[in-house]
Amino acid sequence: MKAVADWKNLVTLYKKARYSIFYAEWWNKSSSSILLNLEEIIENYPDRPAILPKGSVATNSPSTLEQYFFHHLPFLPPRPQAIPGNGFSVTDSITNSLRDEIRTKKFMLGIKEAVGQLRLSNSGLIHVIDAGCGTIPILGIYAALLSPKVRVVCLELNPQSVAVAQALVKTLGLEDQITVIHQDATTCRISGAPIDLLISETMNSGLFEEPLVPIMTNLHQYVRPGGLVLPSRVDILGTLFPYEDVLASSLIVNIQGTPVTYVEPNWQRVLTYHPGDLLTRIHFALPSRHLRRGKYVDLISSTVSIGSQTIRGYDSSISAPAIALNHTSNDWWILDVTEQPPPSIIINYAPGDSLNGAASVK
Ligand SMILES: C[S@@+](CC[C@H](N)C(=O)[O-])C[C@H]1O[C@@H](n2cnc3c(N)ncnc32)[C@H](O)[C@@H]1O
Repeated sequence: MKAVADWKNLVTLYKKARYSIFYAEWWNKSSSSILLNLEEIIENYPDRPAILPKGSVATNSPSTLEQYFFHHLPFLPPRPQAIPGNGFSVTDSITNSLRDEIRTKKFMLGIKEAVGQLRLSNSGLIHVIDAGCGTIPILGIYAALLSPKVRVVCLELNPQSVAVAQALVKTLGLEDQITVIHQDATTCRISGAPIDLLISETMNSGLFEEPLVPIMTNLHQYVRPGGLVLPSRVDILGTLFPYEDVLASSLIVNIQGTPVTYVEPNWQRVLTYHPGDLLTRIHFALPSRHLRRGKYVDLISSTVSIGSQTIRGYDSSISAPAIALNHTSNDWWILDVTEQPPPSIIINYAPGDSLNGAASVK
């Protein structure tokens, strides 16, 4: 039902954006290029939003960038279909991603910095891969607009998203610079010139649920020495957090749909991932001997570096704290300290797994 409702909302938005005088005028301004339009839009995005919790992104109102692209879409996205694997539906890849304004802005700024560096060190073509480009391949489009020397190959698992992305690229007149291909970026082979810039925004907080790590493990081998990769680094943070704080009544943010008091947790950096690192398990122990009596949940969050840009904690859905779930009940995993606390809590999951059943007591 949700997917159908999303689709209807998008159809309405598409119609509005197509006939919006505001966007039509903007588009027709002879002096303004698409690049300037996009930069003007992201400049107006706040640097640091009001606390933006995981789970709230999809229900936000449409972002300006989203409306801008809808104005240029030559046809409606097809009715969304579930596809196997980690592929987003054609609508989710718009609502979950493009509506996360801080994420989009920081990725665009990081790409601008990277393309700028590559232009200084390279007088030839700049070969870019955007792995998991989505329905509106904003990251590949932005890279291409930054220099006519940029050539982008966009890879996407969902064929419906591929069809819309291909049509959008054509409408924008970027088909000489951007090729959108239906491929699984975790397994596909890349032929031709080595990659100068590899981009993939396929991560959820804590590197769970989405395939950033397998995608990077597969594609990093094609990056030329001195080439750049975005994100450039992901730090995973963990902490044991009092359950009562999660349940407290003064409501500022919500985590996974549940309102909580915002108390800055005492985060520990438990793992640093650089794309290309071989990372088959995410495994760490959170010391728990010091815990007072009470109930605790384990929170996992990230700090994502995109060149000099950083996304932290509640900034975005790709960094926001999540609570590990108990795999049998699919409910929050809760540590109940009544007497002697256990020495540590073990968190163990494969990159891309859901957090279900990630925690255990040792
Ligand atoms: C979070 S969205 C990002 C979309 C777009 N790059 C953006 O930044 O707005 C991730 C996209 O990656 C795609 N995806 C997931 N797994 C993939 C895979 N193995 N190969 C290619 N694409 C994949 C999803 O279908 C989804 O469209």
